[in-house]
Amino acid sequence: MSILVTGGTGYIGSHTVIELLEYGKDVIIVDDLCNSKIGVLNAIEQITQKRAKFYEINYLEKEELRKIFEENNIEMVINLAGFKAVGESVEKPLMYYRNNVVGAITLLEVMQEFGVKKFIFSSSATVYGNPDKFPITEEFEIGHTTNPYGTSKLMVENILKDLYSSDNSWDICILRYFNPVGAHESGLIGENPNGIPNNLMPYIVKVASGELEVLNVYGNDYNTKDGTGVRDYIHVVDLAKAHIKAMEKLEKEKSGLYSYNLGTGIGYTVLDIIKNFEKVNDVKINYRITERRPGDIAICYTSPDKAFRELGWKAEKGITEMCRDSWSYIMKRKNIKKLLNERGY
Ligand code: UD1
Repeated sequence: MSILVTGGTGYIGSHTVIELLEYGKDVIIVDDLCNSKIGVLNAIEQITQKRAKFYEINYLEKEELRKIFEENNIEMVINLAGFKAVGESVEKPLMYYRNNVVGAITLLEVMQEFGVKKFIFSSSATVYGNPDKFPITEEFEIGHTTNPYGTSKLMVENILKDLYSSDNSWDICILRYFNPVGAHESGLIGENPNGIPNNLMPYIVKVASGELEVLNVYGNDYNTKDGTGVRDYIHVVDLAKAHIKAMEKLEKEKSGLYSYNLGTGIGYTVLDIIKNFEKVNDVKINYRITERRPGDIAICYTSPDKAFRELGWKAEKGITEMCRDSWSYIMKRKNIKKLLNERGY
């Protein structure tokens, strides 16, 4: 029996595939490589000494998906094939709804057709909107999303709720990620967005490496200890391990619909992150305070208690590992590039 991972060569997908392979699972990756590189497959193999089966297709292609379900014995699907850039989603809402919502529906339809009803969905803290109490728990109301990316996650969550109500033989786990950062400690896989990053950690890394000149800190007048925004950063390897725990739960349970917040439970400000990054990696981050970024909220952190109680999962890695691994991934890539240049490749 295999686990199908859509978006399996992406940032969170590749780390999750590693954990699944190391656990001993057969893994099938479906990814159209629109936001990842084929080389990730070799890196995964180098780390695990195992290879996932790979289909280069877009998960909206229903006929192709059907063929995969015909050819393989699939027990569960982990859907990580989402677009995730907030700003881009505002500019291209139809593209986001098509990929994130129609994609999920297509996948669920094919699963239903083949009687595969175990599903893990990557959602986001963004579905809680702008709460006024912290920490955020799973009992908080979801809704009031502020951009098409967030709304697409909310829509899929609602679809899953309705699907489960209509047929409670489904076994579904919704994972709401807080702010994933870091990279695999091998330095072989990580996050390396093309162009100018939107998110804080990839931006810091590019300033530290000299690729970008200065980090804009979006506002220092929030009601937080130093005025900058507070987030619950979580190491991507911890996040990947949560998928294993969710998989174990679904394997154990016959049916159900569960949701879990995945964070460390600790909120760090932007300045905390900068200071820690500088200290851990012995580098300087050139930054300046600018206006608030439209749509940003002041504070966002979770209580990871439910995930601990019900999945037996908690984050093991702290801010030191998050800063160290984000940096060593980029340094390793830079060294490889330099080596290839020196050799005339
Ligand atoms: C955003 C999305 C979230 C999504 C996540 C990952 C919202 C409200 N949030 O999270 O849904 O899952 O991206 O893609 O839609 N910051 C700077 N300078 C920068 C970049 C960020 O100061 O150059 C600050 C931000 O103001 C914020 C913190 O750093 O306080 C984290 O920002 P970011 O990494 O973009 O994540 P979120 O906005 O929390």
